[in-house]
Amino acid sequence: MTSTGERYWRRTLHEFGTLPGLRGKYGNEGDPDEPARFTAWRGLPRFPLPTPASRLTDGLSELLHYTYGVSRLELGPLAMWPYHRLVPSARCFFPTELYCWLPETGRLPAGLYAYDAAHHALVLVRAGVAVDALGAAVGADLAGADCVLVFASVFWRTAFRYGDYAYRLCAQEVGMTVGNALLVAGSQGRHGHVHHQFVDADLQRLLGLDWPAESAMSVVALYPGPRPMLAAPARPPVIEPAATGFLDPRTCGPLIEIDAASRRTDLAIRSTLDSPAVEAEPLTVPNLADVLRARRSGGPAFNPVRRPITLHTVEEIVAPALSPHVSDAVAPGACPPVACYVWAITPSDGEPGIYRLQDGRLTPVRRRGTLAGRLRSSNVNYRTANFVAFLVADQEQAQRRLGDRSFRVLNQEAGIVAQRICVLAATRSLAGRVHNGYPAAEISAELGLPTAWQPLFQIVVGTAGPSARYQMPIPFVGGAR
Ligand SMILES: Cc1cc2nc3c(=O)[nH]c(=O)nc-3n(C[C@H](O)[C@H](O)[C@H](O)COP(=O)(O)O)c2cc1C
Repeated sequence: MTSTGERYWRRTLHEFGTLPGLRGKYGNEGDPDEPARFTAWRGLPRFPLPTPASRLTDGLSELLHYTYGVSRLELGPLAMWPYHRLVPSARCFFPTELYCWLPETGRLPAGLYAYDAAHHALVLVRAGVAVDALGAAVGADLAGADCVLVFASVFWRTAFRYGDYAYRLCAQEVGMTVGNALLVAGSQGRHGHVHHQFVDADLQRLLGLDWPAESAMSVVALYPGPRPMLAAPARPPVIEPAATGFLDPRTCGPLIEIDAASRRTDLAIRSTLDSPAVEAEPLTVPNLADVLRARRSGGPAFNPVRRPITLHTVEEIVAPALSPHVSDAVAPGACPPVACYVWAITPSDGEPGIYRLQDGRLTPVRRRGTLAGRLRSSNVNYRTANFVAFLVADQEQAQRRLGDRSFRVLNQEAGIVAQRICVLAATRSLAGRVHNGYPAAEISAELGLPTAWQPLFQIVVGTAGPSARYQMPIPFVGGAR
């Protein structure tokens, strides 16, 4: 008997070509009932945030803006999706919702807030919450955190088009947003702890989430100062699962099933995934604010301009992306539980072929190996791209140790790495295009993966060409501070 999680893994990785949502059977952009990209927070106290500085100073306004703010508006006949944020999102649907817990600071009362990115404001969803309430939900002592970020998914925003496949996209995007938060917080001199394990109903109740339409997916506690070790687990409360809310079951049955199967009612058993530990400084990216503004996915049709780069440059982009962050998915000091393979298409100094990142170096797996015949896409030109990164993980081990929650945990951990690759590519003026249209079984065979491993992310990296889309940055009225 296969579990809900195993069925969902198979369905969304190996059978996704047959899913109705991917065959355009559901809603489309422009339909009258297309969901809004942004939550309209009405009737709750709101606190406008100061204009974020154009550099990454240590303020809350900068933390929230650079983590998940609106960054540009695209106009013109070829602009399919007008709103862009500092993290990519499939078709710019932005299902991730960012909340934060704050202690009492100046004019802000202590409590839980939603980040209203469209207005760059905080909306108080629950006043007077102490950090201990969040600590009880994640089963950890969060004393000392000066901000706790909670990432949730509003599934229908993506599911209206993709149906139950949306859960995969939502988990990947939460991971990328978490990855971005860690980068931004790191540039501010803070350090984050990622918590994948928590009592879902506790967070749901605290934030007033309408589950299963919206589900809490990840928690990142931010601490001032150098990277501390993971806090020891405290005794968690045991809470009954909440009653089911509404999400169109005709198109989202398996989505509701996998999210329900992922939920934890207690944290008595805590398992981690195997991953090597390395001595490494936390990843920091110089001039991160500028780099994040410049980050691009390459437009609806990504037809890169040829601009050869060396294999060493490829290495400089992918290797730091796997450096450790503090996460309850792995032992302290361990790297994210994913491995990276690279198809180097047009290196200027070495052989094209398939490489594996091992101990920070690209090691050939298959010289002259090529995926050209296997990867076909109507909207990405692989021939002029520089390289494709594949993030792969041991799905069977994750399923054994973390049960059905493994789907979101692995996709979120891989998402952290994916966002780092996109950002590090941007430091070299390269666009990084996350693209899920790859034949997972064929890719696994070509990379020589053991059967337990699965490719979770494909990122195509190349130089974006000129475009008829007017890409207008959201201006900074406040200027440099
Ligand atoms: C999880 C995820 C999956 C994606 N899948 C695809 C895909 O299958 N095909 C595609 O062309 N683009 C895909 N994209 C790219 C997005 O459409 C793109 O990031 C979005 O248009 C935002 O562009 P920007 O990053 O330049 O703002 C994906 C992005 C994400 C985050």
